[in-house]
Amino acid sequence: MHDRLFSRQFCIGGKWIDGDSGDYFNVSNPANSEIVGEVGNANLQVADWAIASAEKAQVFWKSKSGKQRSEILRNWYNRVMEALPDLAFILTKEQGKPLAEAEAEIRYAASFIEWFSEEAKRIYGDTMAHPSPTHRIITLKQPVGVVAAITPWNFPAAMVTRKLAPALAAGCTVVLKPSQHTPLTSLALAQLALEAGLNNGEINVVTSTHSGSIGEKLCTDKRIKKVSFTGSTEIGKRLMSMAAGTVKKLSLELGGNAPFLVFEDADLELAIQGAIASKYRNAGQTCVCTNRFIVHSSKARLFAQRLAEESKKLVLGNGLDQGVQLGPLINEEAVKKVEELVENAISLGAETVLPGKRVDSEHLLYQPVVLLNGNSSMQLAREEIFGPVSVIYSFETEVEAIEMANDTPYGLAAYLYTRDLNRFWRISEALEYGIVGINEGIISNEIGPFGGIKESGFGREGSKYGLDEYLIIKYLCLGNINT
Ligand code: SIN
Repeated sequence: MHDRLFSRQFCIGGKWIDGDSGDYFNVSNPANSEIVGEVGNANLQVADWAIASAEKAQVFWKSKSGKQRSEILRNWYNRVMEALPDLAFILTKEQGKPLAEAEAEIRYAASFIEWFSEEAKRIYGDTMAHPSPTHRIITLKQPVGVVAAITPWNFPAAMVTRKLAPALAAGCTVVLKPSQHTPLTSLALAQLALEAGLNNGEINVVTSTHSGSIGEKLCTDKRIKKVSFTGSTEIGKRLMSMAAGTVKKLSLELGGNAPFLVFEDADLELAIQGAIASKYRNAGQTCVCTNRFIVHSSKARLFAQRLAEESKKLVLGNGLDQGVQLGPLINEEAVKKVEELVENAISLGAETVLPGKRVDSEHLLYQPVVLLNGNSSMQLAREEIFGPVSVIYSFETEVEAIEMANDTPYGLAAYLYTRDLNRFWRISEALEYGIVGINEGIISNEIGPFGGIKESGFGREGSKYGLDEYLIIKYLCLGNINT
């Protein structure tokens, strides 16, 4: 492990600096509460330095050509890939997910840097016909300005690069506020970015436990022109109202309540494989994890039994231990919430097919649970479970399945299992979601546009559309041309 990847300071203006208050906070491993690091606890003064640094660097960074920015981003990508084992180790230590999943996350994170290093060369506008023969229309795409990226603990690397890489490719500079639970991975990524040539204040990292006040500063400061946030719908709404004062451009990737529809014609074993993949990624702690299995009544019990059989095989433990497939939940509050949701579902009539519980009071490990006979009165039909709990709801008709799937204010990801081509089209078009996985439980990659509708937010990350979130379109009207 390279010590240089373990920073405890703030990355501001291309340097590692301490704050003015001498305040630090501990970062612990959720698998065993071991303290794995200590980082600076930024106050508003530190946030102000970071914004000033990003604003200063913006002038220089936006003047580079797309190709020059592309080369520097490619450099960052190469360094992240070289440091993959170290980054994965840091990630598992602070977040808890199994090492193999952490390695996959670093690859996923790096893929955004690679993709946007390529896209940086393809930022251009159009020429358009004007209604008058003596006029012409030209559009330019320009960086929006300084970006604030506020990222969650469930993907400490990928959510950072999914925002920073397109912002930098577009010519924006960034102030990053990572989750207080997982700041170490973002500091390590920042060190690699400095080494890659992003060392003039293009990336500024502010770690802090004062999430409310720092978030407010980032959303209200007029030097910040865009806020990109991944996290809960509740916080997203708060940030949105704060950002309204200066009418900032926003991208919000918020909560989900993903339905997983299994029709009577589906390949059941394929659906079970997809269910395991989509339910247990990061111990169920992703916004796109299945929240509701909606299965045709003729298959519901069999589906529940097979899911229980496969879920029982998963190995729980410390993510650093060999063979572990399910790590701990992030904190005590998360475990309490899952316990409460399961109790509530059982009290409202859910049948337990696979009983599970917290392994012991010392650890944040929670065993998989499979419940049958879910209904809409249950709390977990409406709220994100964020844990390894599967609930099966059953339906009779296609219309009923669609109604059940759409009966939520959320609209991030949905999954659909069928072998009928007509049904695939009908249902895909009827689902009120930004992403639909068809006969597939894993939908995340750098090339597909990731994002939701309804109260799951707006804006797209990754893909050719991801860059537009950090660009403005300027229209030049050329008049009175003597042709
Ligand atoms: C999330 O949970 O917010 C992101 C999940 C993903 O990128 O697949």
